[in-house]
Amino acid sequence: MTTRSDIIDILKTIKYPGFSRDIVSFGIIKEIELNENNLNLVISIKSTNAKVADELEKLIINKLRLRKPKISTKISFEIEDIQTSAKTSSIKGINYIIAVASAKGGVGKSTVAINLASQLSKTMRVGFLDLDIYGPSLPLMVGDSSTPLLDQDKLIPIEKYDMKLMSFGFLNSGDSPAIWRGPMVSKLTNQFFDNVKWGDLDFLIIDLPPGTGDIQLTLSQKLALDGAVIVTTPQQIALEDVRKGTEMFRKVNVPILGIIENMSKLILRGKINSNLTFKNFKINSHIVEVNSDGEFELEYKVFDGPGGLSESNRIDVPMIGEIHLDPKLSRSIDNGLPYVLNYENSSITQEFEKIVSEILSKLKNE
Ligand SMILES: Nc1ncnc2c1ncn2[C@@H]1O[C@H](COP(=O)(O)OP(=O)(O)O)[C@@H](O)[C@H]1O
Ligand SMILES: [Mg+2]
Repeated sequence: MTTRSDIIDILKTIKYPGFSRDIVSFGIIKEIELNENNLNLVISIKSTNAKVADELEKLIINKLRLRKPKISTKISFEIEDIQTSAKTSSIKGINYIIAVASAKGGVGKSTVAINLASQLSKTMRVGFLDLDIYGPSLPLMVGDSSTPLLDQDKLIPIEKYDMKLMSFGFLNSGDSPAIWRGPMVSKLTNQFFDNVKWGDLDFLIIDLPPGTGDIQLTLSQKLALDGAVIVTTPQQIALEDVRKGTEMFRKVNVPILGIIENMSKLILRGKINSNLTFKNFKINSHIVEVNSDGEFELEYKVFDGPGGLSESNRIDVPMIGEIHLDPKLSRSIDNGLPYVLNYENSSITQEFEKIVSEILSKLKNE
């Protein structure tokens, strides 16, 4: 005989699609009604995306199918529309527009942005707009350089990896770097922004051009952002960069959802092939412990800044994630397959999961 607590135990073994947390601890199970072997489940999901409901239903039915005696299961979903937060973005049909910004180029803004978008796309409808006119990297990051089609003067986004994508890079193919000046950039971006047929989206993630100057300020204002995320490296976080970024967004009343520290450290794992038993060894100032099997793990701070956390406390912006340096991350950019879609169970993907839940909970409270 199956009891209610057996059911809970079974549900605890099921992960929410795209996350490493189980569906019970996620708090989405609203009702469990068990009469003899008839089970009635009510599940509440926030996303307006039906694909999570379908997937959850399959996962649950699959698990319960093996029970003897057989449990007849009915699952109903309560879809909590995230639009009920009363906020609507400047583009009809899009719930949240979030910018990913950095004070400097080369800190991994685009890398973080595409992985954030890809992680969100596991459970929601996501668009990605690459507004980095000087270095559009979206075509490379998703391995697609098709030219968008037009529908009544509106560009139809490229669809890949279950996301809708748009970039200057799709329009301006070729290797010539854009050398447009500020006012032209703003004008062109405005037109560009208004003329994409996004359809209904839960999130539009924008890869802003690097910097905190006039272009970025105008864009942030024009785009009516619901929030911004600032990407930095540990070295630079100590400098003026994050403060400049926060000031820029505060000027235009865009809530800063958090700072993401990229390239925070390099983790090296190895094994010593020797009969000698090392207890530890030293590399620069790092003491590396070796276990009895000769294995070691070295966490190396490539940029030895004061760390994002103290700085984030000081300027009162939460640090919502730390992404370490990993050659697989840069390779995935070159291979055109976003890391979080390829390495589902890695610690970096888990960090992106955490970033997504931080962003969702911040948006709810805005
Ligand atoms: N955490 C990381 N680990 C390894 N390589 C990274 C990481 N973050 C970024 N990179 C690499 O660093 C380079 C710059 O990243 P990119 O996202 O293009 O920066 P930005 O958009 O800020 O100019 C790219 O080659 C990218 O693959
Ligand atoms: Mg970039």
